[in-house]
Amino acid sequence: MDTLTIRKPDDWHLHFRDGFMLQETVPATSRCFSRAIVMPNLIPPVTTGSLAESYRQRIEAAIPKGSAFTPLMTIYLTDDTSPAIIADASKAGVVAAKLYPAGATTNSASAVHNLDQMQPVFEAMAHHGMLLLIHGEVTDPDIDIFDREKVFIERRLIGIVERNPSLKIVLEHITTAEAAQFVLGASDRVAATVTPQHLLYNRNDLLVGGIRPHNYCLPVLKRNTHQLALREAVAKGTPKIFLGTDSAPHERGKKESACGCAGCYSAWSALELYAQIFEDLGALDYLEGFASEHGPRFYGLELNQEKVKLVRESWHVPTEITLPDQNKIVPFYAGMEVRWKVQEV
Ligand code: NCD
Ligand code: ZN
Repeated sequence: MDTLTIRKPDDWHLHFRDGFMLQETVPATSRCFSRAIVMPNLIPPVTTGSLAESYRQRIEAAIPKGSAFTPLMTIYLTDDTSPAIIADASKAGVVAAKLYPAGATTNSASAVHNLDQMQPVFEAMAHHGMLLLIHGEVTDPDIDIFDREKVFIERRLIGIVERNPSLKIVLEHITTAEAAQFVLGASDRVAATVTPQHLLYNRNDLLVGGIRPHNYCLPVLKRNTHQLALREAVAKGTPKIFLGTDSAPHERGKKESACGCAGCYSAWSALELYAQIFEDLGALDYLEGFASEHGPRFYGLELNQEKVKLVRESWHVPTEITLPDQNKIVPFYAGMEVRWKVQEV
């Protein structure tokens, strides 16, 4: 098979950033995705409906002429988020709120310190039909970084799911066998996204032969048994796991640093890499569900009617991208060969 035509996909988790960076990130995603769940971890974060609305307008201004793309806006939960803020955000068209445990990842310093105090906010979200998107890692200093997701599920997530029977929850960018198992065994209100890097790589790709800062993201890559469990889960075609690239650009100097930032910028290659992964798994028939159907069904949104065509064509991811301010980004999979290519229309 040398072409693959699928319903146009959506990206259910990414970081566009702001300002001139939108000139780079928005076209990279709108080239093949119809919608994207836009993460709110700007500095300062997007915490209200009105901040989300003005961010939406800045994103829309960066959509290339002639391409149809809809950003789906989220807000960032803090210790000060109230049910009134949720009601107001829902009115402004915000579809989901993002829970970062404070300190868990890039730009999460102003996030939630005490999860137990969030219950009224979760109830308001359920009432307004807003989804809860979770960065599932504990931040306790005594918990090993490779165990942070597993411990979050045990100590936090199970309780949140139990106390909120009508709240839809997405455990984002899952990285472990425990997360896959939890989501597959949970009720229909619980789903997960998975990134290309967590399906393609394990922690050897981060640490063997030298530290590879461009493969550093959070939650951090895990051992290969976890990578295999994630691959096995998507290869079954489960409707509970769908596409979320977590495309997260950082300038080269911020990654190649004594204290490098977490995040992989995959927007230019993600759909092609997912196709390659599903092909390697003998699961190409499930790519369309993963990329284009399970996500909108879970969010309660219409399926896209347009199609995208991928062709079997070898190309190499650029080794760097120049931003409008002349700074550089090293994209995910830089310089590596990819076997599928989205056909430009
Ligand atoms: C993301 C970023 O750079 O904003 N980084 C990452 O490693 N994934 C934040 C996040 O999604 O955790
Ligand atoms: Zn992210």
